[in-house]
Amino acid sequence: MKKIRAGVIGTGFIGPVHVEAIRRQPNAEVTAISATSPEKARTKADSMGIEKAYGDYRELLADKDIDIIHICTPNNLHYQIAKEGILAGKHVVCEKPLAMSVEQGQELVELAAEHNVICAAFLNCRAYPLVQQVREMIAKGDLGTILAVNGSYQQDWLFKDTDYSWRLEKQLSGESRAVADIGTHWFDTIETVTGLKTEKVCADFATFYKTRKKPLKSVETYSGKVLEPGDYEDVPIDTEDYATVLLKFDNGAHGSFTVNQVAAGRKNRMYFEIYGTKCAVAFDSEMPNQLWIGSRDGNNQIMIKDPSLMYRNASEYNSYPGGHTEGYADTFKHTIRKIYAAVEAGKDAGLDYPQFSDGLRELKLCSAICRSAAEEKWVNVE
Ligand SMILES: NC(=O)c1ccc[n+]([C@@H]2O[C@H](COP(=O)([O-])OP(=O)(O)OC[C@H]3O[C@@H](n4cnc5c(N)ncnc54)[C@H](O)[C@@H]3O)[C@@H](O)[C@H]2O)c1
Repeated sequence: MKKIRAGVIGTGFIGPVHVEAIRRQPNAEVTAISATSPEKARTKADSMGIEKAYGDYRELLADKDIDIIHICTPNNLHYQIAKEGILAGKHVVCEKPLAMSVEQGQELVELAAEHNVICAAFLNCRAYPLVQQVREMIAKGDLGTILAVNGSYQQDWLFKDTDYSWRLEKQLSGESRAVADIGTHWFDTIETVTGLKTEKVCADFATFYKTRKKPLKSVETYSGKVLEPGDYEDVPIDTEDYATVLLKFDNGAHGSFTVNQVAAGRKNRMYFEIYGTKCAVAFDSEMPNQLWIGSRDGNNQIMIKDPSLMYRNASEYNSYPGGHTEGYADTFKHTIRKIYAAVEAGKDAGLDYPQFSDGLRELKLCSAICRSAAEEKWVNVE
């Protein structure tokens, strides 16, 4: 069997997560990585047992042995690398957010349509087994008509003013920070599982730290490096630490969402509650192996992740039997499984995987949310 040969661009926090998840596919192998210098690329490649290492992503794009690229760099490079990747004839997997603006995203969607390659936006939170179970429950009418959707995505890795990342700089990260960085996952998950579209948003933003202490050398995400006072400079911050957004959906349902990157104790918690006319569900990504099901008349239930008890379309998102917990890394495995199935079947096969159009949808939501916060009013999502 000919394997799909992958090249991973960017090897900070998330690049190696992609490498591991690609290696869990029976039909794929990781052929190369690229980093910001040949030396760094070689060191990273050796640490992961990867043969080819490039100091420039364009060399990786020119490599005929590579079928698909995974873009795992800071956000400002997504558009350019995705565009060049498509033009080089590669299938493209692009980390969220797809681009820095709606216009760039639109251009990428059009380019993807013109070329016979698979173009996936890496929106992996929809691939938790119990999130897929919610999707099936809603599709089968178990919840009835959806009345309200509430939730949050909260983290504490930017809790201190000494916490720093390229994500705090607009030119590298984009106009929005918390909403684009993690709100994107929440909205993609909610719109995927409910099938609803967010029609209108009303947002309130806060930047709690108006300045932060920027390390004089670059620091990779979650690297855990402890810096001394002389290692910093004070820099102004102009993106949101926090946002609360009121929502109106296209079926008339209402909702609310909070995103917060300075939420003490919340390590990486995506949470949602969906209230229907028959029952409700609640999911917490820090406890992804259980789903709360709420009833007015019967007993509330906790459904445990167990493929033998789940709807068929959801159970394929499990790797292990009941009682064997699955989590974040497994969402990467299953997202890549779906994308690589599309690579094998072709773009006309109509398989279900997160596409560039889903990435564009997130850019439009983000843009509407930013405009709403700036103008302090309800804004229609394009
Ligand atoms: N889906 C998810 O759950 C998830 C989680 C974390 C990050 N992400 C996304 O992944 C991307 C990377 O985030 P991260 O947390 O890994 O950041 P990071 O800073 O830890 O890593 C980024 C890496 O890209 C490298 N890089 C920069 N320019 C490059 C270039 N021209 N060529 C090759 N490499 C280059 C940097 O040196 C660094 O090693 C972001 O877009 C982020 O939104 C997604």
